[in-house]
Amino acid sequence: MNHYFTNNDNLKSEKRIIKYNYGSSCFEFISDNGVFSKNKIDYGSKLLVETYLKNKKNIKNFLDVGCGYGFISIILSKELNISGEGVDINNRALKLATENAKLNNVSVSFKESDIYNNVNATYDLIITNPPIRAGKKVVLKILKEGINYLNKEGELWAVIRKDQGAKSIIKELTSLTQVTIKEKSKGFYIFFLKKN
Ligand SMILES: C[S@@+](CC[C@H](N)C(=O)[O-])C[C@H]1O[C@@H](n2cnc3c(N)ncnc32)[C@H](O)[C@@H]1O
Repeated sequence: MNHYFTNNDNLKSEKRIIKYNYGSSCFEFISDNGVFSKNKIDYGSKLLVETYLKNKKNIKNFLDVGCGYGFISIILSKELNISGEGVDINNRALKLATENAKLNNVSVSFKESDIYNNVNATYDLIITNPPIRAGKKVVLKILKEGINYLNKEGELWAVIRKDQGAKSIIKELTSLTQVTIKEKSKGFYIFFLKKN
């Protein structure tokens, strides 16, 4: 079975364009076989980015963990007018993300990193729609280790569905640090962590 996070160079390419409007901004994303949510923008990703933008802070940088073809980071970069970074382990997604940043005229750099293995900076915002299919261990690593990559007052924002364990994951995180639930919609929870 091909997962959206498995590199498969033999998978036939069938690029397509997905459009998305936010306020007066119109975005276009090139998508392809072998990447997450290849035919439409994921509802959870949309809810995450839109909820963050409603509650946005004055931030100077951000990191999108599991960036896919760049939807979250490209919208944030445009709407906040700042540069950003994204990491993923899917090379096809990373190539698309780089193309999409150019297509939408934003400054976001994308690189390969297994979770934070290739991340050397700290951020005002870490944002993630984590790879639930990679398993709870990977998801918890993204959320728990992310705290070490936050600047003072930095926040880590995430979306997880209730039926994919949102409540138990939030409970486990609450024993470590401050967790705030900001939105619940159609079974998706949007929450953020801060350093204690
Ligand atoms: C749910 S998708 C979200 C994609 C994109 N952010 C979006 O909103 O459309 C999760 C992403 O995490 C990536 N991923 C899976 N395991 C990873 C790992 N160990 N390190 C970094 N990224 C990973 C997948 O390749 C996938 O692109």
